[in-house]
Amino acid sequence: MAKSAIFKPSLFGLRHSNRDFTQKETWGKNQFNSSFPASLCAYLDGKGLKNVYLKLDENLKIQPAELSTKELYGLAPDSDNLFYAFESQFRGESKMITIDLFAGCGGLSLGFQKAGFTIVAAFDNWIPAIDVYRNNFSHPIFNVDLSRESNQEILAQYNPEIIVGSPPCQDFSSAGKRNEGLGRGSLTLTFAEIVTRVSPQWFVMENVDRIEKSKILIQAKQIFKSHGYGLTGKVINSCYCGVPQTRKRYFLIGKMKEEDDFLIDEINGNLSSKPLTVFDYMGKELDIEYYYRHPRSYQRRAIFSIYEPSPTIRGVNRPVPKTYRQHPGDACHLQEKLRPLTTSERSYIQTFPKDFIFAGTKSNLEQMIGNAVPVNLARYVGQCILNYELKKGKKITDRQLQLSKWL
Ligand SMILES: C[S@@+](CC[C@H](N)C(=O)[O-])C[C@H]1O[C@@H](n2cnc3c(N)ncnc32)[C@H](O)[C@@H]1O
Repeated sequence: MAKSAIFKPSLFGLRHSNRDFTQKETWGKNQFNSSFPASLCAYLDGKGLKNVYLKLDENLKIQPAELSTKELYGLAPDSDNLFYAFESQFRGESKMITIDLFAGCGGLSLGFQKAGFTIVAAFDNWIPAIDVYRNNFSHPIFNVDLSRESNQEILAQYNPEIIVGSPPCQDFSSAGKRNEGLGRGSLTLTFAEIVTRVSPQWFVMENVDRIEKSKILIQAKQIFKSHGYGLTGKVINSCYCGVPQTRKRYFLIGKMKEEDDFLIDEINGNLSSKPLTVFDYMGKELDIEYYYRHPRSYQRRAIFSIYEPSPTIRGVNRPVPKTYRQHPGDACHLQEKLRPLTTSERSYIQTFPKDFIFAGTKSNLEQMIGNAVPVNLARYVGQCILNYELKKGKKITDRQLQLSKWL
């Protein structure tokens, strides 16, 4: 061969294939594992040798046998007509590495997973919800009290590109005491502190809409801003995002070094034009047209129709009280066969799939289902984030190696 010949990286005998051996990814362990044996067979053929393989005889005893590469491939390995189609490159890393804080039974996790995020770990401290989560996901969920700083160290080890989470919301919701200074409201600040310590590119925090008017949100936003996050805050009504429910939830979405409101067009632009009803979502699958949903106060109606979105699924589910008095807004007259939705039906309205495994006591399941972010709402928000990244022309595969800023 002439001295001036340029040698390109290649594997012996693999003349035509879907691998570009000039690229270093082609030489990674997984890629090499499939192409190298093919090349070895071609090499044996070049040397006039046969491949040895092991087969089982009729007594299930292992017997060595021989096979030429031409027989194996059906063509000579260096034939112009032979094309080696190896499996495509593993693109697991192309999805954003995500951890979920205050994960509950996993509504938010499942929605983000369905949108294309890779959840690598979740954290909560309520065992009944953790058990349900474990039954439905292959990544770990850790039973930790996230308010304790010493328990937070494990998060940084995952080097997430995005942290999602729903700090508990009782202190802002009308059901709670609304004492922001005490108790659970401060877990919103805990979330902000964890995010700013771990410093992922993105974060998503979900909460009740009432948080918008709270001092704690102002404090949390200040923490995020002082660490360089651009913020988009928005109350989203689930019934415009593929959920047959008028559940309104506040989302605060942050991305490093962005302008505030950077995601607002993406969120507003993809909402559906009309609210999704229970009938739109489930057809006649429910054997009823009307159902009872126990109200917080009898000033509100309690009877709903499947031809409208369901009211917010809460953590309490009660039968029709004998003393119930018809409300003028009720969707039908009080009737004997009127019933509340079952726990499973309520999980479907929260857009959990039918194969999601819910095991536990009825009251715990009602609580975790009522706590959950509707799966389709979470998926909607996740998709907006991915659309934004794609439109900005960023390769999601470009995972910045962030040295953890822990401590
Ligand atoms: C609103 S729920 C989360 C719902 C969840 N994102 C979902 O979509 O299913 C809040 C969760 O925070 C958990 N939690 C409350 N205090 C906690 C703490 N100190 N450490 C860890 N988890 C906590 C509760 O157990 C509950 O599951």
